[in-house]
Amino acid sequence: MRYDSIVDAIGDTPLVRIDPSVHGLRHIDLYAKLEMLNPFGSVKDRPAWHMARPLLEAAADRESTVVELSSGNTAKALALLAGMHGLRFKSVTNRMRVPEVKDLLLLLGAEIEELPGRSECLDPTDTDDPLTRFHQALSEPGSTYLHTDQYYNPRNVEAHATGTGPEIVADLGGRAPDWFVACVGTAGSSTGVAQVLRASDPSVRVLGLVADKSDFVPGIRTIDEVHQVGLFDPGTYDAIESVTSQEAIDGMLTLIRRCGLLSGPTGGAAYHGAVRHLRGVDAELTGDERRVAVFIVCDRAESYLSYVRSRRPDLLGAPAAAGPSVSALGEAEARETAKAVEADEALEWITGPEPRPLVVDLRGPHAYAALHIAGSVNIVDELFDELVRTGLPFSKSRPVLLACPVGEKSLRYAALLTRLGHPDVRSLAGGIVGWRDAGAPLVRE
Ligand SMILES: Cc1ncc(COP(=O)(O)O)c(C=O)c1O
Repeated sequence: MRYDSIVDAIGDTPLVRIDPSVHGLRHIDLYAKLEMLNPFGSVKDRPAWHMARPLLEAAADRESTVVELSSGNTAKALALLAGMHGLRFKSVTNRMRVPEVKDLLLLLGAEIEELPGRSECLDPTDTDDPLTRFHQALSEPGSTYLHTDQYYNPRNVEAHATGTGPEIVADLGGRAPDWFVACVGTAGSSTGVAQVLRASDPSVRVLGLVADKSDFVPGIRTIDEVHQVGLFDPGTYDAIESVTSQEAIDGMLTLIRRCGLLSGPTGGAAYHGAVRHLRGVDAELTGDERRVAVFIVCDRAESYLSYVRSRRPDLLGAPAAAGPSVSALGEAEARETAKAVEADEALEWITGPEPRPLVVDLRGPHAYAALHIAGSVNIVDELFDELVRTGLPFSKSRPVLLACPVGEKSLRYAALLTRLGHPDVRSLAGGIVGWRDAGAPLVRE
């Protein structure tokens, strides 16, 4: 294999069968499409190159900066591509939640701008969202940026419709698999591959996987966020199911320890979600009936060690996390246990007679700096999670109002603290967004 440029090594990734003794499916051959073996390390190498390629020459003439709303793999691939073409790269995101990825991007020479926003995806109806404003500015005439626009660019889908999908069909001897399973971030890979597989065989079933409500699996959306993604079309998927961060780590461990595949958490989520779903399909099959399923391993493990450490310290030689954790609380359980207060009631509580509550804002520091409730303190949710175990900076008897973007995380933490014996912890229903929509006052740092 000899190449003139590293970009020629993008694509043609291996399709590797998972040993049936690992997954336990009797009638289904399960294959992993190893997108982590792309040269820049992930499934996003394909769309990054496909989106940037036609624009690079003009960008070099104008000395444009390449820009993308990404906190992960697309940013990594674009930073490398920009560097190869003598251009700067800027990553704009609401929160860099994986420290290794942030460090790697800085090493690659990327500029990182963290802006507050409800999520990394755009909410086109929310014009107050600085990420939305930034996105609009990029599209205005005269913008000097080369904006690849992965959430809306059809070339994101096309990269997979011309690459990943046809490769799967070719490697299966010219036929589409019966099942295709992919995690959904921008929806580019699942949409592009599904198009090609269905053109080959309309009966192909597509399973899309997202992160569980209020949970975090790097690179993919939660069930609530996915509907805000520009390229997402529910018609692409026969089923959409969610995976928790713990399940993603379990799947990742199986791929690493039993299959020799150095997968990151989304590959683990895809494996876990695929096997969980296919167990039901497998149980219906009889005799010598056989089916084929393919899932995507998006990227590698090394960038996610701190993600694993914070959720499963025991895997990295530290004592297992002691005490209850918010990730173990189900949504229904949280609703039953926690008390939620609407914005007007919360405002009365905060401004009324003593004892007034301590208001804890669980959002990222940039979102907090942009707008917050006067007098509130900012403890970002990951840190709050740790403090619940190691010691909170307020006494048990202190009344507390917890606030997050939309009132889901805060509800879980309110339930957790209530269980731990805090007598008066409430969650702000609808979060800071609901508070703002109710016309309640917010201040800027
Ligand atoms: C680690 C990881 N897995 C999965 C995906 C999902 O891919 P897509 O954007 O094609 O839906 C992404 C996308 O950003 C990712 O970074």
